[in-house]
Amino acid sequence: MEAQLLAWYAGAGRDLPWRHTRDPYAILVSEIMLQQTQVDRVVPRYLAWLERWPTVDALAAAPAAEVIRAWQGLGYNRRALALHRAAALIARDGWPDDLTVLPGVGPYTAAAIGNFALAKNVLPHDVNVDRVERRTGHGFTGAAAQALMDLGATVCLARIPRCDACPLEALCPSRGTRDEAARKQSRFEGSFRQRRASTLRLVAASATPGDVLDREAVEALARDGLVVVHGDGTVELPS
Ligand code: ADE
Repeated sequence: MEAQLLAWYAGAGRDLPWRHTRDPYAILVSEIMLQQTQVDRVVPRYLAWLERWPTVDALAAAPAAEVIRAWQGLGYNRRALALHRAAALIARDGWPDDLTVLPGVGPYTAAAIGNFALAKNVLPHDVNVDRVERRTGHGFTGAAAQALMDLGATVCLARIPRCDACPLEALCPSRGTRDEAARKQSRFEGSFRQRRASTLRLVAASATPGDVLDREAVEALARDGLVVVHGDGTVELPS
C-alpha cells in the first residue's frame, strides 16, 4: 500500500516551499501556520515570514507587537505569540529533546518537525492522515507523511472522496464510501472569533481607548496576551 502511495506522490505531490528545507525553524514556522490555515494561504505568508525573520534568533529578537502584526490575516492569532515564545525559548536554551515543551507545539507538530527536519520515522497524525489510515485500514510509516497529507487534501476528501483518482483504490476497503458530515464550527464560535479578530486589527493599527472597543473581545485577547490594557483604559499590542 505504501509503495503505491509513494509512487503516486512522486508524480502528483504538491511542490510546497517547506518541502525544500530541513531547517527545523522553517519547519516550525510552516507547521504552526498550517495548524489552522489552508496551504494556499500559508505559502506566501511563510515565504515572507522567513524573509523577514530568517532565523530563530531573528524572530526571538523581534518585538511581540511586530510578530502579531505580521500574523494578521492568518487567523487564530494566539499562534503568533506561541511561535514568538517558542523562538525565545529556543534562542535561549537551544532545541529541546521533547518539542512539545514549546508553546504551540503539540504531538502533531512535534512529529512533523521530527520527520521533516530531523529525519525521524514518526508519522504526524492530522485529520487527513488519520482519515486515510482509517479508510484504508493501513498503518503507514513516517516516510509516507507528506504523501498522506497530499492524498488526504486532494483525493481522499472527507465528504466526497475522489476514489477514481486514488492510487490506493484497488487496495482500499472503503472505496466509494463517504464519511458522515463533519461537525461544523458553531455560529457562536465563528462570530466570537471574528469579533476578536476585528478588535485585534483595530488595536494593531494603533493604541485605542478601551471604551470604543468590544469589551468581551478585549478581555479574551488580554487573557491570551495578545493585547495589554493600560491603567487609563488604552488597549495596545504588547511590547
Ligand atoms: N498540513 C500540515 N502540515 C503540512 C505539510 N507539511 N504539508 C502540507 N500540508 C500540511
